[in-house]
Amino acid sequence: MLRSCCARFLLKSSIYCGNPDMPDVEFKEEYYDRLYREGDRTYGRPQSNPYYPLYQKVVDLATKERLGSILEVGCGAGVLSGMLIAAGMDYSGFDFSRVAVEKARARHPNGSFHTGDATQAAPYRASYDGVVCCEVLEHIADELTVIEHWKTGAVCICSVPNFDYESHVRFFRSETQIVARYGALIDIGRIERVPVSASAGLSWSEYFRRIRWARHEPKRLFGILGVNRFRWYAGWFVFVGRRR
Ligand SMILES: C[S@@+](CC[C@H](N)C(=O)[O-])C[C@H]1O[C@@H](n2cnc3c(N)ncnc32)[C@H](O)[C@@H]1O
Repeated sequence: MLRSCCARFLLKSSIYCGNPDMPDVEFKEEYYDRLYREGDRTYGRPQSNPYYPLYQKVVDLATKERLGSILEVGCGAGVLSGMLIAAGMDYSGFDFSRVAVEKARARHPNGSFHTGDATQAAPYRASYDGVVCCEVLEHIADELTVIEHWKTGAVCICSVPNFDYESHVRFFRSETQIVARYGALIDIGRIERVPVSASAGLSWSEYFRRIRWARHEPKRLFGILGVNRFRWYAGWFVFVGRRR
């Protein structure tokens, strides 16, 4: 008991993946409402979305797992939802941003979308075989409590980034860090690396501007050009396992 309390304290207070240059502030609903109100210009052209390679990987993994029903935690405005629904999944999703949920509902009238806070028990009362939680855990300071709400035995397909951002409270540099943080709650079977597309959604001039800006940072420059893109530019770790 004491050992597990200490382990949990260390996990919750761990600083190994925070970025000292960015304050680790958790943003609330209003921040995301504003972002979603401003719109997502690549919706309707998922291939132009920088997240597309990640979404494709998640759909492939969910298909391989033959999940009967899926609960998406932090579904946003419904881009990944649309791909999961199109792949024939019995889908429901929730997010604490009302604006995002309204958009997701309008885009997928046949989908089941709800407003809910991932750190509370209420959104998990629906029945589901698997959880998809993509680019959400790194936004929540107490994300271990989120996972604790997932039912025992559920297949979990999650992703976290290897880069920082203003709304990230943490990010990860290696598979070892992921197992160290989530292994006590999820029996992780595999972890895959997915590089971010450096050009998706950008015009040629924006892409070349990005290359020019990176000219004094050789690794970033090569990363943008496609060399070792996961490490030198950016990427996501996608992990799959069963909730213990
Ligand atoms: C980077 S977006 C990812 C959206 C979507 N999963 C995707 O991959 O396109 C992070 C999402 O997490 C949601 N979120 C953050 N904290 C949350 C919480 N405590 N409960 C529910 N949703 C939350 C935000 O509203 C936002 O939609």
